[in-house]
Amino acid sequence: MKIYKPPPDKSITIRALLLGAIADGRTTVENPLFCADTAAAINCLRALGVKLLVSKKRVSIEGRGLKGLTRPRRPLNAAEAGTVARLLAGILAGQDFPAQVTGAASLRRRPMVRVAAPLKLMGAGIKLHCGTLPLNSRPAALKGITYALPIPSAQVKSAILLAGLYAKGRTSITEPAVSRDHTERLLARFGARIARSGHTIRLRPGPLKRAKVLVPGDMSAAAPFITAALLSGRALLVKNVGLNPSRLGFIKTLKKMGASLQITSRTSGPEPAGDIRVRPSKLKAVRVSAAEVPTMIDEIPLLAVLAAAAEGKTVISGAGELRYKESNRIKTTLGLLATLGAAARHTNGTLEITGPCSFRGGTANPLSDHRLAMAAAAAGTRTAARLNIKNPGCVSKSYPGFFTDLKRVFC
Ligand code: S3P
Repeated sequence: MKIYKPPPDKSITIRALLLGAIADGRTTVENPLFCADTAAAINCLRALGVKLLVSKKRVSIEGRGLKGLTRPRRPLNAAEAGTVARLLAGILAGQDFPAQVTGAASLRRRPMVRVAAPLKLMGAGIKLHCGTLPLNSRPAALKGITYALPIPSAQVKSAILLAGLYAKGRTSITEPAVSRDHTERLLARFGARIARSGHTIRLRPGPLKRAKVLVPGDMSAAAPFITAALLSGRALLVKNVGLNPSRLGFIKTLKKMGASLQITSRTSGPEPAGDIRVRPSKLKAVRVSAAEVPTMIDEIPLLAVLAAAAEGKTVISGAGELRYKESNRIKTTLGLLATLGAAARHTNGTLEITGPCSFRGGTANPLSDHRLAMAAAAAGTRTAARLNIKNPGCVSKSYPGFFTDLKRVFC
């Protein structure tokens, strides 16, 4: 059985860096992820006057406290990192200086009103350019709000919570479905007064204490390897992957499809982690509800590829949010399925895929979307003919060593 250790979690690394910067004292992030998105987080924090000591195994951050960041001399460049841009918006809303956040062309096309609207309700002085980046923030007094998230977005939820640290009074957020809760878990770890009941999170303002954060492996990075193992009929042991329940939708769905996945929990800290043993399995179609989608939001393209190998019609409801990712993932996923020869269609946020298909091969165009390039590569382990991928280098957004790891495990 091949053994695979995924890279550290991107969402947790970015959050730990940002929280460490506004905490009091020195925070250490152990086993951080290094990729284009986390580099953007580090660059933005340095531009805000934060000292970070970066080594292979850890990042040490000299926390400046909630109000200790300094006015950047240039616009903050979030590159292609939506999480960095949106979470920074929450932090900047509470600062006593003006700042601008911008990013690469692909990020400047992505919607930002979803973050700006609730922050404005809190009193933030935020302005967007036609609903997108650049985002300008000017000093303003913030007040806590009670907010029902119109979409289940962890990035929006996190931006509001970060601004809530600076607000007068309590902030309460209700999410329509559970999305990844790393910010909540980390805020608690950094000493914030935060509690959840059901779908509602309540936060009281106040300073953060330094913390030591250990980053587990990234489920979203492991998912293409689990997919490739199932598609190519090979056994795989995935070591030290994050098992946060709000990220387990993909694994739960694969089990419903008949995949043999055995989970062994190893750590039960704030971010649980463990191993997953994947065994060759015959897959059948599945139905995914809108409430389940946020727990596997970045794995839907992989699920679609697996559905193309499964017997019967898979229906994924409530996937409309995929339109606003690094590409319009409804379109890019349908494009990949067409290249594979799969029968698939989309109506009003519902994806239907009927399998099994021939897995033909040809040329996949992920439109520079890292998750689609990885989904195509996973599909390529099963195709009858070679599957070429346009601009495969786009994987460096989240996983620079992806193709090296894939070759090592599957060739
Ligand atoms: C992320 C949340 C998700 C996800 C993205 C990372 C995060 O986006 O797609 O890749 O780290 O909070 P939304 O919160 O917009 O759904």
